[in-house]
Amino acid sequence: MQGIHLLESVLFFLLFLNLSPGTVRSQSLPPPRYDGFVYSNHEVDSNTIMIEAFFDPVCPDSRDSWPPLKQAIEYYGSRVWLVVHLLPLPYHDNAFVASRALHIVNTLGTNATFRLLEWFFKYQEKFYNAQTLNMSKVDVVNEITKFAAEAVGNSYYCTIESGFNDRKTDLQTRVSFKYSTSRGVYGTPSFYINGFSLPDSGSSIDYNGWRSFIDPLIGAQGNNVKKSTHFFLR
Ligand SMILES: *[C@@H]1O[C@H](CO)[C@@H](O)[C@H](O)[C@H]1NC(C)=O
Ligand SMILES: *[C@@H]1O[C@H](CO)[C@@H](O)[C@H](O)[C@H]1NC(C)=O
Repeated sequence: MQGIHLLESVLFFLLFLNLSPGTVRSQSLPPPRYDGFVYSNHEVDSNTIMIEAFFDPVCPDSRDSWPPLKQAIEYYGSRVWLVVHLLPLPYHDNAFVASRALHIVNTLGTNATFRLLEWFFKYQEKFYNAQTLNMSKVDVVNEITKFAAEAVGNSYYCTIESGFNDRKTDLQTRVSFKYSTSRGVYGTPSFYINGFSLPDSGSSIDYNGWRSFIDPLIGAQGNNVKKSTHFFLR
């Protein structure tokens, strides 16, 4: 009996080994560029407060959390730096396609990505599970292609359409998913400041909430002379 179990285990292991190289080859990690969409490009130094937001474009809580975060980012200007990561949740049927659309339009510039993200937040009901129950996968991709073109400009329709046929954009979206889960993020929205998770992640933080997190950090930095060595990230 033991022998048979051992044989089964070995066979299973060999089968697993045989399958895994394909998976590894198709998604080379680490990716060539750090995951995420940078909200505003400005110089960053060691005093810049880094905010990371993990969003699902078809998640209502992500939608609700965006306006106060955006207001806070605008208030703090160059003192903060925002990176948005995507976590397409598996129980939101169209989250992966929506996230892929964000990667596709990102080739037009981060501006386009944030315009589309806001467009999703505004009309995301169209892509909820119940509303797309009778739609095929192809229907959903076609709808999202049209939807994204409305957001970034109809002249980009063909670019977006061909983006959905480009395996690279699929892989980029997978990297986003893997990155988010590798950080231990399992719900959206989730927020980190300077690499540390905020206590009430998973729900919206209002503008005063953001102020109460960030004001003390700026206060604690005191009058440190900014380092002269800047590095530029985009
Ligand atoms: C982003 O969009 C804003 C508003 O449409 C525009 O003023 C700005 O120049 C754009 N930036 C880039 C880099 O395209
Ligand atoms: C899906 O199809 C069923 C059966 O035709 C219909 O009753 C239902 O209203 C449809 N749902 C949507 C969201 O279109």
